[in-house]
Amino acid sequence: AGSRRNLSGRMREMLPRDAVTALERLGGLAAEAGERAFLVGGLVRDIILHRRNTDVDVVVEGAAIDLGNRFAREYGWHLHAHQRFGTAVLLGPEGERIDLATSRIEHYPYPAALPEVEAGSIKADLFRRDFTINALAVELDGTRFGRLLDLFGGLQDIRQGTIRVLHSLSFVEDPTRILRAARFEAELAFQIDAQSLRLIRNAVDLELPARLSGHRLFRELRYLLEAGGAVEGVRRLAGLGMLRFVHPALEAERDGAVERVEAGRDVLDWYRLLFREEAPVRWKVLLTLLLWKLPPEELGDALTGFEVRSRDAHRITGDRRRADRFEQAVIGGAVRGEDPAGVFEHLERISLEIVLALMAVTGHAGVREAISHYIQHLRGIRGALSGSDLIELGVPQGPEVGRWLERLVRARVRGEVNSAEEERELVVRTEGPVNE
Ligand code: CTP
Repeated sequence: AGSRRNLSGRMREMLPRDAVTALERLGGLAAEAGERAFLVGGLVRDIILHRRNTDVDVVVEGAAIDLGNRFAREYGWHLHAHQRFGTAVLLGPEGERIDLATSRIEHYPYPAALPEVEAGSIKADLFRRDFTINALAVELDGTRFGRLLDLFGGLQDIRQGTIRVLHSLSFVEDPTRILRAARFEAELAFQIDAQSLRLIRNAVDLELPARLSGHRLFRELRYLLEAGGAVEGVRRLAGLGMLRFVHPALEAERDGAVERVEAGRDVLDWYRLLFREEAPVRWKVLLTLLLWKLPPEELGDALTGFEVRSRDAHRITGDRRRADRFEQAVIGGAVRGEDPAGVFEHLERISLEIVLALMAVTGHAGVREAISHYIQHLRGIRGALSGSDLIELGVPQGPEVGRWLERLVRARVRGEVNSAEEERELVVRTEGPVNE
């Protein structure tokens, strides 16, 4: 089986020259020890698809750590070995990185458990992987350098745009693959094939994703939300009945959840057109929108279950509350959309991500317009004068300085002052001239 296709030309075209050299050397060292080394995983897929990817994963039919040690000694790279897993990371002088593993067979003691591992052939290693498009390998030793090892029809599936599992227990062994299937499908504009789709539906009917830890589920969900095609991915998950494993409350309102994520994507696109820098963190915007109907305490619990860093979880939950308060304040008339200082005071306390999420989700045009104005004209406004500038101008040391700093920001926001000079004039006019 297999194809005679050789990818070495394409590798030279797509990878930095040093990376190709390192791979040749690695293949050479493996061959000297009578072992074979292969490039595997997403990078092989992406080389064929002409997509950028920097994750270099190498599998050795042999001892990965020993090979890594020989390579590090010979070529002056650093090696970080993980003895427990038999894996190693090679770090090059220019920041290059190669992940090394011994080819292995995995046994799953029970569904959704983490696997037990033993050494095996490259074929067994590839067979344990998620999809055919990710189960291609490229030989790395001298005469065969670049030769594609295609044991499961991955090349044809890449060409046809098909996401297909290698065997019928794939989603039973690892239900996170359901999220991965949705992600690859949306990101690559591929299609999950009919049989794989049936297997997903079986796994969902058996409630297997419920056995995943929040941490593992969220990890893949986050990748999906960060990927191109996040909305299509979430729509696919909704269609598969998978959203309830993200949170039970999403089962009843799946269409609403997808629509909110879509609105979030549109707001993020709008933001990207306006500004090129300081990109908001997409998953924070989209996840908050997915879970928007949860009361803030339940949002906090969900984030904790996902093992989101507690600093992030607190921030998101607090911002979610502040966003509600702002929306209510505008709707109730306590803050007028045309009052820049009022809008500024509320929104400066909320992270950009949750401000954008509110903009996407609010049903109130006044709230949306106030946020739009804030983002385009007010966000990040600061006064020019420092505390010591103020003291020099005669402001008494102490709390008065802080009050002045805030007042100058408000004056800026209202457009009453527009430069350091005008700030100075405002201070002097109010405090009286400096006596020296
Ligand atoms: N893999 C798997 N099952 C999983 C996760 C990963 O079989 N639940 C396999 C896949 O074959 C994948 C490889 O492990 O190619 C590396 O995983 P990862 O780096 O997460 O994915 P990539 O395929 O590299 O995808 P991407 O680069 O888009 O993240």
